[in-house]
Amino acid sequence: MRPFPLVSCIAALSSFACAELNLSEPLLSKQVLPRTFTPPQVFKNANLVRTMSLDKAYPRETINVIIENIDSKPQSEYYLPFDSSLLSKVGGLEVRDKKAVDKGTFKVEVVGIDAQSSTEFYLIHLPEPLAPAAQQTISISYAVLSSLKPVPTQLGQSDKQYLQYTFSAYAPSAYLTEKQRTKVKFPNSDVPDYTTLPADLNDENKADPQKQGSSFTYGLYNNVPAGAQQPVSVRYEFTKPLTHATLLERDIEVSHWGGNLAAEERYWLVNQGAGLKNHFSRVEWQKQSYLNPPTFALKGLNLPLAPGAVDPYFTDDIGNVSTSKFRPGSGKKEAFLELKPRYPVFGTWKYSFRVGWNAHLSSYLRKLSTGETYILKVPFLEGPRQIEGISYARVNLRVILPEGAKNVRFSTTVPIVDNSTSLHKTFMDTLGRTTLSLTAINLVDEFRDRELLVTYDYPWTAGYRKPVVITLGIFALFAVTWVLGSIDTSIGKKKVA
Ligand SMILES: *[C@@H]1O[C@H](CO)[C@@H](O)[C@H](O)[C@H]1NC(C)=O
Ligand SMILES: *[C@@H]1O[C@H](CO)[C@@H](O)[C@H](O)[C@H]1NC(C)=O
Ligand SMILES: *[C@@H]1O[C@H](CO)[C@@H](O)[C@H](O)[C@H]1NC(C)=O
Repeated sequence: MRPFPLVSCIAALSSFACAELNLSEPLLSKQVLPRTFTPPQVFKNANLVRTMSLDKAYPRETINVIIENIDSKPQSEYYLPFDSSLLSKVGGLEVRDKKAVDKGTFKVEVVGIDAQSSTEFYLIHLPEPLAPAAQQTISISYAVLSSLKPVPTQLGQSDKQYLQYTFSAYAPSAYLTEKQRTKVKFPNSDVPDYTTLPADLNDENKADPQKQGSSFTYGLYNNVPAGAQQPVSVRYEFTKPLTHATLLERDIEVSHWGGNLAAEERYWLVNQGAGLKNHFSRVEWQKQSYLNPPTFALKGLNLPLAPGAVDPYFTDDIGNVSTSKFRPGSGKKEAFLELKPRYPVFGTWKYSFRVGWNAHLSSYLRKLSTGETYILKVPFLEGPRQIEGISYARVNLRVILPEGAKNVRFSTTVPIVDNSTSLHKTFMDTLGRTTLSLTAINLVDEFRDRELLVTYDYPWTAGYRKPVVITLGIFALFAVTWVLGSIDTSIGKKKVA
């Protein structure tokens, strides 16, 4: 059982080319502050260590900071500033208590000054107000999407790829920072270019950055004022594809009647790495392929699926892709779908496809012992598991529940920017199926396997709607056939005339 009739597949396929991310749409829901706003100076950062990891296809930053309340009253609102252009690329921002990481993440929200302002803020709500003069160590982590630039921008097909990343050597802060360092972790020690800062900027009057193998450290800097920036740029070797999904549409369809959970995912990918200088030579590519050299082209995607996944399919704009392999899971072992695009996807090239599979609903659905309430537990994001990672500008997830499901609630730790519940009509539905739609932006593969819990009520009478409709449908068909069969064909002739 496929989630959609063929007609909608074809319609969706033909729209592959046009469904790009619409950047003029507001990316985050946010509260707007008056133009004159500056965060109240109630905190200082006593000590800050920022670690930037460049081992994946997107930079990831972790800021561990000891914050101190310098006000006379307890405070719980900590602001983190970003330039608007940077904020639209920041994803998966999470804040935790460094000393109680398992207590979960703090509530964060985006606040803007106004449409014209170039600075926007994440507002971090401390779960407990911090008393005057008290300190707390918080850990802020996030990814920055679409920010790595291949230099040079075009390469021969077996060349090494180098990426440039430009950032501030000072961590973003709305408060005075007494001491700070920025550690940059490269994937290897091939770092041909990097900004050197004057030695007198840092506290120890040493070469800045300090190098240690594949890790560089900018700082130590003392008493950096709020909002200060110190642009630096690094260029390093990274001969892997920069796989980015401008859009992922993921549908989970629950069928109580068939005991089935059907998943379908539609990807619009682009390799953000370097383009090809010359024409692609398949001969050269084949000659090299047995050596399996590093390449900046996307050659394949590995999709681990839940152990019970069956009937996978993989189609692109042209049709079925036969170069994919499926290894079914057994017991607790996950199934594995290996997708090979028809051609290696070099930088600037796009590749769109859909994959889908079925699974037994019983592994995902529980019925509460009381009443008619069900709990569905599915991963928010499955998708490829690549060493170099993959980023998603937008993920539209739909959970299509049976007809008659109501009182839909959900919970997930993935930051959601939009949610709605509507009715989705398919073949033989009378009311339409209850559909939960969730949107997340700027996600990375690290959010893979985060759970989504959906709770809904499904009265037992609703389960009979489908068989009754089908029975009535078949009856109607018989009736029509009988009527047509008994009508004189001259009616048809009359129409033509
Ligand atoms: C993008 O979104 C804006 C606001 O929602 C809309 O006005 C515009 O028509 C959209 N553009 C495209 C190309 O869909
Ligand atoms: C695509 O492949 C599946 C099995 O992998 C097969 O059932 C289906 O008929 C194929 N469709 C086309 C259009 O070739
Ligand atoms: C879902 O959307 C409504 C507004 O449409 C909002 O009030 C609510 O907080 C959202 N829920 C979550 C969990 O984001």
